[in-house]
Amino acid sequence: MSKESQREQKQVLHSLRWEDEALSLLDQRLLPEETVYLRLTTPQDVWEAIRELKVRGAPAIGIAAAYGVVLGLSGLEGAPSAWESEVKRHADYLATSRPTAVNLFWALDRMKARAKALAESGLSAAEATQALLDEAKTIHAEDEATNRLIGEHALTLFRDGMGVLTHCNAGGLATAKYGTALAPFYLALEQGIHLKVFADETRPVLQGARLTAFELQQAGVDVTLICDNMAGHVMSKGWVQAVIVGTDRVAANGDVANKIGTYSVAVLAKAHNIPFYVACPLSTIDLSTPTGADIPIEERHPDEVAAGFGKRTAPEGVAIYNPAFDITPNELVTAIITEKGIVTAPYADSLRKLFEDA
Ligand code: MRU
Repeated sequence: MSKESQREQKQVLHSLRWEDEALSLLDQRLLPEETVYLRLTTPQDVWEAIRELKVRGAPAIGIAAAYGVVLGLSGLEGAPSAWESEVKRHADYLATSRPTAVNLFWALDRMKARAKALAESGLSAAEATQALLDEAKTIHAEDEATNRLIGEHALTLFRDGMGVLTHCNAGGLATAKYGTALAPFYLALEQGIHLKVFADETRPVLQGARLTAFELQQAGVDVTLICDNMAGHVMSKGWVQAVIVGTDRVAANGDVANKIGTYSVAVLAKAHNIPFYVACPLSTIDLSTPTGADIPIEERHPDEVAAGFGKRTAPEGVAIYNPAFDITPNELVTAIITEKGIVTAPYADSLRKLFEDA
């Protein structure tokens, strides 16, 4: 991989950008200490970046994968049928990088569908590659616009002075810009509405501490970092009036897959009578997956749990279970906030309707 490190002044950072015929991608594993942009030039680079969490968050990995397909086409010549099968080959490969976030498969399906249409258009390989790059750029640009709409809808649920708890990172770093669950915090800031955000640190890889606390602090949002096991205490103090999280996949019945620990937060919210909101684009809603039990849950390396802080924190040889996500059952979800508005139970109907009206 050709790597180009650029260290920048701290500011609200972009997660990824198409630049000089390559994907410039912020290495999120190094945050908050270092700001390093990687220059990715092959589908393999992108696959590895997704797998190793250099880029993470459902929408961001979908966007990265779309660009990854384009990277596989550089210098390609020949008949449309040849490059269409190349697109399929790269897309199928990139789809093996992580299993849970449906945005990955959604973006790759969209690239394959575009390639199929282009194959029938009689364009040259170079023209078709440019058109596929345009498609990836469109997916990227749409995500930013979508998140702003999600933020506007979500902000209607919050009032000046409220405490809001979030888990993991569903912010600008996980998306093209703004994030999903964090979008209302950015919009509140723009509008002079004060929200006090509590960010769970999010064991084992600390997306809450390393990424959410970082990006909100950089932006000037009032954010307080807590360990995951402090959420109940903070709620019992009356400091939290709402919870908002992102998601990797919403099943047709409204069950929600999100970062491990989300389910515990939802149970705590229920016990304290606090609304539990989920924010996501329509591309995260998967009507072909009937329930949460049908969502594949990624399991990651035990070292994330046993040696995640640069030193061993568990005995050698101990059994470790490290699921990256959990399922929050729909009855714990107060509302799902999308770019098309806010939906509530019964989710089987309300989610389907979002697509019927599309
Ligand atoms: O393992 P990660 O960091 O990719 O998990 C990310 C999450 O769980 C996010 O909450 C989810 O992808 C939504 S991002 C808008």
